[in-house]
Amino acid sequence: MTIVDDFRLTLGGKQYVPIVIGGMGVDISTADLALEASRLGGIGHISDAMSTFLSDRKFATKYTKAKAKLHRATRDTFDKSTVKFCLEDLWKAQFQFVRDTMSRKIGDGGIFINVMEKLTMGAPGDTLRTRLQAAMEGGIDGITLSAGLHNNTMKLMADHARFRDVLIGIIVSSARALKIFLRGAGRVNRLPDYVVVEGPLAGGHLGFGEDWREYSLGPIVADVLQFLKKESLDIPVIPAGGIFTGTDAAGFLDAGASAVQLATRFTVTRECGLPDKAKQTYFRANEDQVYVSTLSPTGYPIRLLRNSPCINSNIKPQCEPLGYLLGKDGSCQYLTAYENTPVDEKGKKLPVTDKICLCYHFSKHNCYTCGQYVYRLKDTSHQLPDGSYQLLTAEHVFNDYLFSKEHHIALPEPEIPQVVG
Ligand SMILES: Cc1cc2nc3c(=O)[nH]c(=O)nc-3n(C[C@H](O)[C@H](O)[C@H](O)COP(=O)(O)O)c2cc1C
Repeated sequence: MTIVDDFRLTLGGKQYVPIVIGGMGVDISTADLALEASRLGGIGHISDAMSTFLSDRKFATKYTKAKAKLHRATRDTFDKSTVKFCLEDLWKAQFQFVRDTMSRKIGDGGIFINVMEKLTMGAPGDTLRTRLQAAMEGGIDGITLSAGLHNNTMKLMADHARFRDVLIGIIVSSARALKIFLRGAGRVNRLPDYVVVEGPLAGGHLGFGEDWREYSLGPIVADVLQFLKKESLDIPVIPAGGIFTGTDAAGFLDAGASAVQLATRFTVTRECGLPDKAKQTYFRANEDQVYVSTLSPTGYPIRLLRNSPCINSNIKPQCEPLGYLLGKDGSCQYLTAYENTPVDEKGKKLPVTDKICLCYHFSKHNCYTCGQYVYRLKDTSHQLPDGSYQLLTAEHVFNDYLFSKEHHIALPEPEIPQVVG
């Protein structure tokens, strides 16, 4: 029987342990989590979601406040077409975050950044270009393009000196989406270095609609592998979504994948950026609390826990300070939903039931997005006398994937006496 450690991933002529910790925004896959993956020889992702907001939190910059002040005139209107990001601030925030992370890197692994096209930020092309260029300038090892079709994204990077040496990957949920991306990549003569194939059991936003149950990761990966073979393209394929044990992972590697991308099991590690309360909610989750919702204003389905505090909130749209999902014309599905929600007899806005303000709630960690198997996390640790669960270390989870056999999940060394019986 094979284990994950029997395999290695080769990218750009370098070998890695074939474990990739997926990007989890906003700052759920922290720099510390990514740095652990890299120290252990694998690959970790930071996320570029809400980078100016994050910079304020990490480096005490004041970008969010300055933006809110500049655009205060539109605070009480629904026309947000003038609300834009300062590209210079955006560049500085992204650059500082990436450079700071890279300066702390140790080990032979890689630090990649997850970049979402769907963060349209009032000026989709300009803001995406700025984020990509600043990440390359900051020394990132690899860029994973996610949440979007990325038809023209390669072009936005093409004039940077690192365009041919930084590793570039794309997340797709079908061979068809990969074909479309490759057409765009062909125009700048730059193939992706890896392809993450994300199935319907993943966390975060999904590339599947309400019929997600009709799809499964194995056949989609097989389809992508077959397509690449037919086209004589030697691009490593990295499955993601619902890979819960080392044995699940080894199964994909046996079947021709080059590595696996994982996320949910790392949400309950010390290095993960979720607040402890949220980590405990993930541990306690039951299967019937997990669902795929249409609440995200991105238009993509998102997997959530039903007890996420963001659901049925009536928060005023936060476009002036945040506004990461505004389209070029200043539109956002939450803005519309908020505008259409009536007030009660005292003039108070009723709960907005069909969309959530993703910017506000992600900034507060109120969206408990998770992979389908979040309800199995309770089997990965010890329950403590007070009913809470012992947090894990990223190293423990990483090594469990690497060495586990027969779907066995190694429990951590107990910190204090466990609940008996
Ligand atoms: C809490 C959480 C947040 C996530 N956020 C993002 C994100 O911002 N961008 C993205 O491309 N994928 C995101 N994902 C998807 C993961 O990167 C990963 O591909 C997927 O969840 C792997 O499946 P697993 O969670 O079952 O291991 C997120 C997943 C989780 C659990």
